Order: sequence, then C-alpha cells, then structure tokens
Amino acid sequence: MPLTYFKRFRMEFDLYGPLPVADPLPSRYQAVAWRSSLLDLHAEAKYRSFCFELDANVFPCLGEEEGCRRLMHEISSRANFIPDATWLLVHGDGDQDDSCGTVQGIQDGEFTGAIQNLGITPEHRGLGLGTYLLVQALRGFQERGLKHAYLEVTARNTGAVRLYKRLGFYRTKTVYKAAEVSLV
Ligand SMILES: CC(C)(COP(=O)(O)OP(=O)(O)OC[C@H]1O[C@@H](n2cnc3c(N)ncnc32)[C@H](O)[C@@H]1OP(=O)(O)O)[C@@H](O)C(=O)NCCC(=O)NCCS
Repeated sequence: MPLTYFKRFRMEFDLYGPLPVADPLPSRYQAVAWRSSLLDLHAEAKYRSFCFELDANVFPCLGEEEGCRRLMHEISSRANFIPDATWLLVHGDGDQDDSCGTVQGIQDGEFTGAIQNLGITPEHRGLGLGTYLLVQALRGFQERGLKHAYLEVTARNTGAVRLYKRLGFYRTKTVYKAAEVSLV
C-alpha cells in the first residue's frame, strides 16, 4: 500500500496560569475518573469517536475495536500514565449508560503533560463536552505540578484545531506522520 504523509500540528498550552473555564456538563452527563475497570468503556468511546474520522487513517488502530483496547491498555500500563488526567464521559440515567467521550494523559519529561486521543462520539458533539474533558485533563496535569501540556492534531482536523486554539493552545511545530492508506 502506498505511504501517505499526514501533516500534523504540535500544539502547546502553558499550565502556569488559570485554566479555561468550561461550561458545566449538560444534564445526564457525568465525567468519571480513571479506574482500571473502565478500560473497556474508554476503548469503546475511543473507537466510536474515531472510527469514521481522518485519524483512523493516520493511526489505523483507532479504526478497530481491538486496536483501541490495545491502545488503552498500552497507555494505562505506562509508568508515566496520569490517572488524574484521564476521564470517561458517560451519558444516561444509570440503567443504560452510554460511554460517549474519553481523554487520557501521560507525562512526557519532568514538567510536561501530553494529551492522548480526546474523542467525543458523533451524536454527542457540539455540546461543550470535548471542551469539558480537555479542561479536566489539563487540571489533572496542573494538580501534578506540570508546567506545560501538548497534543498533536492532524492539520485537516479543522474543528479540533479550532477548539484547541479557542482554549489557548498555540502551534509550536509541524510534523508529518507517514501511514499506509488504501486507495480503494
Ligand atoms: C474534536 C472533538 C473532540 C470536539 O468535541 P465536541 O464535544 O464537539 O467539542 P465542543 O462541543 O467542546 O466544541 C465544539 C464546538 O461546539 C461549540 N460548543 C461549545 N460548547 C457548547 C455548548 N455548551 N453548546 C453548544 N455548542 C457548544 C464550540 O463553540 C465549538 O464550536 P467551534 O467548532 O466553532 O469551535 C470531537 O469533534 C471529536 O471527537 N472528533 C473526532 C475525534 C478527533 O478528531 N479528536 C481530536 C483528535 S486531536
């Protein structure tokens, strides 16, 4: 399969100052702190957030349920995993809860946190939930005493880039990620 190069931005956020303020969650949504028994629900939310998106081409594991489970296991097993920056978003009334969002954080170096795979499932977007989860993750970094946060975003993912800019992230680098993409 031919290699395609995806342009991606590294975007950074300074954790010295106050965090952006997110609206409270709409009713029937709940943010749930990390515990290992939630791994499968995070993986499910990740899969449903990314499977039809551009990033599933850039990172093929995001387009497969088992790939998302493996990725969640890999992230949460790392020595530098930050549970306090890892949140699951749940929608429902307790009987039929739907895991509709996920974000994870890891530490990269002494003072820097890295956001991993912020995702909100398609039917729950545009309600401020992505903003809410991202601010929760940044708070987790701050509570650990980190000074900077960063993430990488595919340049063509204009909605996500806009969200990050609105919250105070700024572009610091452009990188290219090679991926094998089927043309059929
Ligand atoms: C990127 C993503 C996480 C954003 O999630 P979201 O929950 O839709 O984000 P928000 O609702 O906080 O913000 C999106 C828009 O809703 C608007 N919004 C924010 N709060 C709102 C509210 N309370 N009511 C209505 N709209 C609101 C925002 O103004 C924003 O508009 P903009 O596009 O002009 O910036 C989501 O689209 C997603 O999961 N995409 C696929 C996976 C992906 O690409 N992830 C990013 C990888 S780097």
